[in-house]
Amino acid sequence: MPIINPTALQDDVARQKNAYPKNYILDQKQQLFLQEVIQGLQQKQKTLPCKYFYDEKGSALFEEICQLDEYYITRTELKLLDQIKHELAHKIGQDALIIEPGAGAGLKIQTLLGALKNPHSYVPMDISKDFLFYSASIIQHKFPQIEVLPIQVDFTQPINWLDQKIQPNRVVFFPGSTLGNFEPSLAIQFLNNMRQLVGTKGAIILGIDQLKSEQTLLQAYDDKQGVTARFNKNLLSRINKELYANFKLSQFKHQARFNKQLSRIEMHLVSQKNQQVSIDGQHFNFAKHESIHTENSHKYSDKMLHTIASKAQLKIVQTWQDPQNLIKIYYLQPTE
Ligand code: TRP
Repeated sequence: MPIINPTALQDDVARQKNAYPKNYILDQKQQLFLQEVIQGLQQKQKTLPCKYFYDEKGSALFEEICQLDEYYITRTELKLLDQIKHELAHKIGQDALIIEPGAGAGLKIQTLLGALKNPHSYVPMDISKDFLFYSASIIQHKFPQIEVLPIQVDFTQPINWLDQKIQPNRVVFFPGSTLGNFEPSLAIQFLNNMRQLVGTKGAIILGIDQLKSEQTLLQAYDDKQGVTARFNKNLLSRINKELYANFKLSQFKHQARFNKQLSRIEMHLVSQKNQQVSIDGQHFNFAKHESIHTENSHKYSDKMLHTIASKAQLKIVQTWQDPQNLIKIYYLQPTE
């Protein structure tokens, strides 16, 4: 949030001049946002960090994606979770503290919480504040016996604020194939952090999308209604809104690409003409058809996941899959 709130007129004038309003001050988070945006756009292959998708609008659009016919991950995972919830609950045991990085609307966790024996507490973490506290309050209402402790945080940063003395039986719940949004080296780092967080007796539950036909994958990231396109472009409107940049949204086109070699779906925003965009007094040139790479969604095979897990000193204890093998759920524990 800006420290001073420009009036509508000041705001208008500033946008016309493509500069900040007078006395506008970026807070620390916005400064980091600016810095990461500039850095990304200075690369040869321009990129933008995907965590910035999730402002209030982006989080809402993402929930819409989860309802799409083409986007099979959410509904398939929900169904599978419902089928295996008692098995999971048995493995997890009593008095568990459940941590969910990137909790979003918190639908999936409710299936698990409902099946657990005397769960101790639930710690949803999300970068988007509004969504986080709203869904946490709903969950608290539905599960009054559990302590719900929402924390607004960028979960890609190391987590060391959870006192090790609190509740030894810890489980990280990380569904939705979100691990696939990290580069493999960062996925290892993230799992390593999570392993330290849960401790030697803890566990990590992962939901992972599976490799499948290119057509099915591409449709999941480029739906007919254009919701994913709006989600992707929202990143540009957010930069315009918060950093007074001048991206013309109609001059960028959403594109999903399958990168076979790296086993991932990539999302891009493709410039429709030669153009220039200015942010914070810096100018960025886009050639026609040049893209900004905004997101990856890696599709890890069992073998790849095994490699990543073992590099983070975790072992795969059990795996479940839906009948069509669209997605998998893994139960990981620290190797002794
Ligand atoms: N982890 C999910 C995935 O990779 C979520 C996601 C991120 C997503 N960006 C997306 C889904 C864009 C659809 C479109 O599938």
